[in-house]
Amino acid sequence: MNTDGLDLVSSHAYADKGVPHELWTQMRAEAPVHYCTPKGFDPFWAITRHADICEISKQPEIFSSATGIAMIAKAQDEAIRQQNQGFGAMRVLIEMDPPEHRSYRAVTSPVFTPRAIKAMDEVIETSAREIVDRLAGETREGECDFANDVAAAHPLRILSTMLGVPRESEPDILRLTNELFASDDPDLQREGEDRNASLAALGMELYQLFDKVIQDRRSNPRDDLASLLANAQIDGESMPMMETLGYFLITFTAGHDTTKNSLVGGMKAFAENPDQFEKLKKDRTLLDSAVEEVVRWTTPVNHMKRRVMQDYELRGQKLRAGDWLVMFYASANRDEEVFEAPFEFRIGRNPNRHLGFGIGEHFCLGANLARRSQRALLAELADRVEYMELAGEAEQIHSAFVVGLKKLPMRYKIRPSSNENQATP
Ligand code: HEM
Repeated sequence: MNTDGLDLVSSHAYADKGVPHELWTQMRAEAPVHYCTPKGFDPFWAITRHADICEISKQPEIFSSATGIAMIAKAQDEAIRQQNQGFGAMRVLIEMDPPEHRSYRAVTSPVFTPRAIKAMDEVIETSAREIVDRLAGETREGECDFANDVAAAHPLRILSTMLGVPRESEPDILRLTNELFASDDPDLQREGEDRNASLAALGMELYQLFDKVIQDRRSNPRDDLASLLANAQIDGESMPMMETLGYFLITFTAGHDTTKNSLVGGMKAFAENPDQFEKLKKDRTLLDSAVEEVVRWTTPVNHMKRRVMQDYELRGQKLRAGDWLVMFYASANRDEEVFEAPFEFRIGRNPNRHLGFGIGEHFCLGANLARRSQRALLAELADRVEYMELAGEAEQIHSAFVVGLKKLPMRYKIRPSSNENQATP
């Protein structure tokens, strides 16, 4: 197999050439466990098959998350590690191994069950309705950038509510997480010449934002996720400050850009497959499977890195203790061995054993929330959109980790909501 793997992990390659599906298809067929040595990155094993990702993810003792989960360029990795304040010192759930991981996950898992998430229904549905109302405006038709005007706004409102971020700070948290996650994107990254200094400043701003919430919920606990985190105990002791901050941060960042990118990529898929949108408009029982197909199709979390802790043989390849491997979920979600016609967007797909939310130890904590919030927005759009079509070029974010579109121009016409219909004599 003739690739050094750079196109799989370089942020700019994703922006310039798109998601490398052709290469993955070839790799799945010819070299599903392939050793890559891209310039500027640590060497790694590229894992592209669904079955192999499942095997790895179910053995967290052998494949560790504790030394980082994103394959980023060496220079950037170094800059983050040099921070002994801010990110360098922040420890997050997604980068913990068992048994510690299980104690930390247990703190919030009750809030994310399907039953508990139902308590968020009103916030979720109001957010979806308000966004579509705003889009409709007075004239009920126009053009928008679906990425910023619709898809970003929805998870922002929901997660801010859960984490106690006041409405006036919503734009700040959005900007900060963009800067954190898309630090290679010229439009989204933080301004400043020195990457180290800008990362430190970013860490400090995030600290200040969440520290306010934490102090408030310690003095006035309420029945919400923010209070749970601010007052959490781990094995009988108060959760340390850096871990508490890290928990706020990972919940927000893991939940926001992923849901946003899924919604944007989903809308583009609907625009390119109008028969699928018509199907959804006619039959709301397809909403749940449509959400799963959107997550499979878009796979916003493109990859996860693991460190091999002991020698291990996979498909005849000898992985050594200390090696890195990178699991490409987006490749697994087009695996011909698992999906019929994997390159077709089919909202009724059943079964749909996609790995968009991962699998095993670190299976997405927010999957039920992500499902409900996407379902609500899709339902609102299916109810009210008369038409929605592409109105310009989509633009890919410079990122190989949380992957998606930063711009999606759309032209649309929207029907009044049923509430408005009732109000009109
Ligand atoms: C479409 C939306 C989403 C996608 C595609 C997605 C995807 C994922 C994936 C693939 C993982 C596994 C990481 C690994 O293997 O190490 C994960 C973990 C996680 N997700 Fe999500 N996610 C989404 C939405 C959310 C939301 C809304 C939240 C929170 C409110 C959230 C919180 C988390 C957290 C905290 C983890 C770490 C869990 C752990 O380490 O045990 N995610 N997500």
